[in-house]
Amino acid sequence: MIKTEGITKSFGMLQVLKGIDISINKKEIVSIVGPSGAGKTTLLQIIGTLDKPDQGTVLVNGIDPFRLKEKDISSFRNKNIGFVFQFHQLLPEFTALENVMIPALIAKEKASVAEKKAKELLQFLKLTDRMTHKPSELSGGEKQRVAVGRALINNPAVILADEPSGSLDTKNKEELHALFFELRDKMDQTFVIVTHDEQLAADTDRIIHMIDGTIIDK
Ligand SMILES: Nc1ncnc2c1ncn2[C@@H]1O[C@H](COP(=O)(O)OP(=O)(O)OP(=O)(O)O)[C@@H](O)[C@H]1O
Ligand SMILES: [Mg+2]
Repeated sequence: MIKTEGITKSFGMLQVLKGIDISINKKEIVSIVGPSGAGKTTLLQIIGTLDKPDQGTVLVNGIDPFRLKEKDISSFRNKNIGFVFQFHQLLPEFTALENVMIPALIAKEKASVAEKKAKELLQFLKLTDRMTHKPSELSGGEKQRVAVGRALINNPAVILADEPSGSLDTKNKEELHALFFELRDKMDQTFVIVTHDEQLAADTDRIIHMIDGTIIDK
């Protein structure tokens, strides 16, 4: 499903990733943990094709996205990778429904089909009565669930989440974590989750420990 080999990345003189080899199977929920500055976000951004490695390869469903033409990388990302960030990063001018639909529209899905899919997802996410609300009219937990819907709409190979519950209170945090496991069980969804939450990490199938740009245990 996802495989990286020998990923290195430097910012100027600072080598942030020092040769990362990981392999993640379909339906697996893997957490990446480690101290601040270990390189977790950098690794996730590279797996998600938002940043390029200096060396090494990334394979997502057998395809090395960095071998694609520049213009094809964003389309690859749109179709294969779902993102959930610490701060929802929803578009403020658009409703929950529109925010979930947008990646499908970018993928050139027909608007009527995108809307139907988005509504089904929002129903699954227990947000049916919030569909026409804009992000400013949603709670933190609701915004994150909309972000999960947006991540799911194109049936991505993997959802990459960077501290997804980092800005939520305990109740919303627990609900979001339960949602990840439900999506895995019901939709075979694969997740890679960077987290500082020890409980979430302990609940995942596998913990990858990163320190100072290397993996110390997997
Ligand atoms: N665009 C950039 N330019 C320069 N340095 C960067 C850049 N992005 C990250 N870094 C540096 O790379 C190192 C790793 O950053 P990264 O964001 O991957 O850490 P992290 O493990 O996600 O930390 P945290 O838990 O605090 O989010 C840090 O020292 C950071 O300052
Ligand atoms: Mg980070």
